[in-house]
Amino acid sequence: MLQERKILLIIGGGIAAYKSLELLRLLRSAGAKVRVVLTSAGCEFVTPLSASSLSGDKVYTDLFSLTDEAEIGHIQLSRDADLVIVAPTTADLLAKIATGQADDLASTLLLATNKPILLAPAMNVRMWLHAATRRNVERAKLDGCFFIGPGEGSMACGDFGPGRMTEPLDILNAAANLMDRDLDKGSAAKSLPLEGKKVIVTSGPTHEPIDPVRFIANRSSGRQGHAIARAAAQAGADVVLVSGPVSIPPPVGVQLICVETAKEMLAAVQQSLPADVFIAAAAVADWRVERIEASKIKKDKNGLPVLKFIENPDILAEVAASGEARPPVVVGFAAETDGLLANAQAKLTKKACDLIVANDVGVGSDVMGGLDNIVHIISRDKVESWPRLSKDLVAEKLVRHISLLLSNGDK
Ligand code: C5P
Repeated sequence: MLQERKILLIIGGGIAAYKSLELLRLLRSAGAKVRVVLTSAGCEFVTPLSASSLSGDKVYTDLFSLTDEAEIGHIQLSRDADLVIVAPTTADLLAKIATGQADDLASTLLLATNKPILLAPAMNVRMWLHAATRRNVERAKLDGCFFIGPGEGSMACGDFGPGRMTEPLDILNAAANLMDRDLDKGSAAKSLPLEGKKVIVTSGPTHEPIDPVRFIANRSSGRQGHAIARAAAQAGADVVLVSGPVSIPPPVGVQLICVETAKEMLAAVQQSLPADVFIAAAAVADWRVERIEASKIKKDKNGLPVLKFIENPDILAEVAASGEARPPVVVGFAAETDGLLANAQAKLTKKACDLIVANDVGVGSDVMGGLDNIVHIISRDKVESWPRLSKDLVAEKLVRHISLLLSNGDK
């Protein structure tokens, strides 16, 4: 997908900048033509000479360079590319992108471009988790930027947590996937694949109360389901997002129904039918407590409490079995710790859905609550495995896959 593609690679000023040289090498080996812009902080970590040796082209650093401006104006530089990659995206660059600042070459190009922007953040974990950065990420996403990572792990500064730049090979895959789509925002607007279609998405966990202050839940963040709702809305669909309790904001342009329990989620979905597509991305609690205590269970009243569980309704299976009201495309998820593909295939049959998106949530996987996902798309006759991608890209690819199913009538 990258053969002959023009990539503008902006290298920000962070220790991860050394990995961007490897990304540059990989992009070139994949056949892309890469132009490099180094921020002034980026020049402190890698030199223009090393970047230019790898890109085979001159490296741009200065907004007010008369020679550069005479050769290729900065607006032209931002428009010439098919894709802009910012790696590493530092907290500072992200803030500039989110607020539309244009006080150096990199930020000016990012404001002037009309091409997709892929951001690979890298920063200290505290900076990444700071409320200001959280706002900037959401703002940049709403403005249409794509994110890959950051990953989690130990960092150069000694901290541990999210903030490491995604590995170059994964950024390369994400770039190839973006190139796989209709890249021109203008032409995307002309032919939105889900225009006129209604899509219901469930997302997040459910909370099953035990007493007025306690509940049973799971680690779902709602990121994947929310990203799918966003991607479906961007593809032109009328989206109803039925969400359990999450701490992330809803995407713009979707109808949000907030629920707590599985029973409430089922009722909200049923009320929202009919639809063309149902995507069950929620991590619904399989069981609820049979008897919810009206008062807080006291710690030392009668020794340890014994909770009796009963099964929750299976929303996906019920929707798939809803006869005339069944949406033409019903998609489920299978988060498994063992026997991923076999369990997911069994779920496809048992729940009578058209697709199962299977992901491994076993030990060592950072899928639950994380920003990336590795999924397998299982239909009745085949399994398609996708590389590690950000949840946003998984959402986009999935929405495209579903649009094709709908238009081909082929499930
Ligand atoms: O929990 P399980 O692995 O069976 O979930 C598989 C799929 O079924 C997921 O898409 C999930 O959203 C859906 N599901 C549901 N209602 C449940 C349990 C699971 O819709 N009670």
